Amino acid sequence: MLECPSFLLFANKHTMRIGVLCSGGDAPGMNPCLRSIVRTACTCDIEVFGIRRGYEGLLNEEFNPGENGTYVMGLRSVSGLSKVGGTILHSSRSQRFGESSGLKHAVKVLKKYGFDALICIGGNGTMKGALELSKHWDGQIIGIPGTIDNDLYGTDTTIGFATAVDTAVAAVDKLRDTAGSHELMFFVEVMGRHCGDIALWTAIASGAEIACVPEIKEAPEKIVKKLKKIKESGKTSVMAIVAEGDESGGAFAVQKLLSEAGNPFESRAVVIGHVLRGGSPVAADRILASELGNFAVSAIIQEESGKMAGRIKGVLSLTSFEECVSRHRSIDNDQLRLLKIVAS
Ligand code: F6P
Repeated sequence: MLECPSFLLFANKHTMRIGVLCSGGDAPGMNPCLRSIVRTACTCDIEVFGIRRGYEGLLNEEFNPGENGTYVMGLRSVSGLSKVGGTILHSSRSQRFGESSGLKHAVKVLKKYGFDALICIGGNGTMKGALELSKHWDGQIIGIPGTIDNDLYGTDTTIGFATAVDTAVAAVDKLRDTAGSHELMFFVEVMGRHCGDIALWTAIASGAEIACVPEIKEAPEKIVKKLKKIKESGKTSVMAIVAEGDESGGAFAVQKLLSEAGNPFESRAVVIGHVLRGGSPVAADRILASELGNFAVSAIIQEESGKMAGRIKGVLSLTSFEECVSRHRSIDNDQLRLLKIVAS
């Protein structure tokens, strides 16, 4: 954990200026992460500017109002944020930033405001943006994984994932009541474009029988065979959790395919969607967010750059942007096996 090195405490005021932004889909925990960054930086007399609306806001020179009529965020500008969902900085997906003219303009803005370092909180697209920017700007850049999808290499879990799973489990628990009463099967679609972690974790935690994830292709006939066995075993209700990125195209598509293949259960499909991105972050996300915010500032002080902060097997670690965006997380086979057993 960063406790401010004494050389920084006694150095001239405002030894550095850090910009922080949130980009891509918002995730519960982004606010406690900002709180941790600002409070860590304040301890070290480092200035933090909150950049609004992600990379798009950087291009437009949009900053969060700070303290005393400046853009500098102080201890009190992040009060009460540990329990607040979404991001007070706002987020966006920027097309312009992906173009070379956009990147050049971003560098101009970063220089104009005297930024020494930038912290980018977000998912895969955010890390890709940070990697491109690092090729054009000589300031330091550290990424923090903030996305419900849990699709980033370089951390065991991303900020927001635990909350999203909790929200999904609460929804599936409610749907199970109706499934039980009416002897139905539900296809519940959760977010996850390229990664089935939300679906798989939700399935294990909610006692669902089936998880359809983008990483595993399963023929409809094979799933129907499983469903017939489930019915024969005496079960009268079934829950299938479908990741939005499943190759068949989501809950409604999987429902149709399975009915055509002879699904023995009458079924309904439900899309939970953006509900998963909202809500107060659960404790695990608040803690991860606080740790990674503190660690990111510490990495900047230690002159690190071009890396994403993450927690791997309990250890705070840095992984290069190149690795984070080029390597894919694979689905956990032990968890797939666990689902099979506990759902039998
Ligand atoms: O990247 C996070 C995510 O929640 C994905 O799971 C989902 O596909 C996407 O965002 C939806 O994004 P938007 O809000 O832009 O529709």
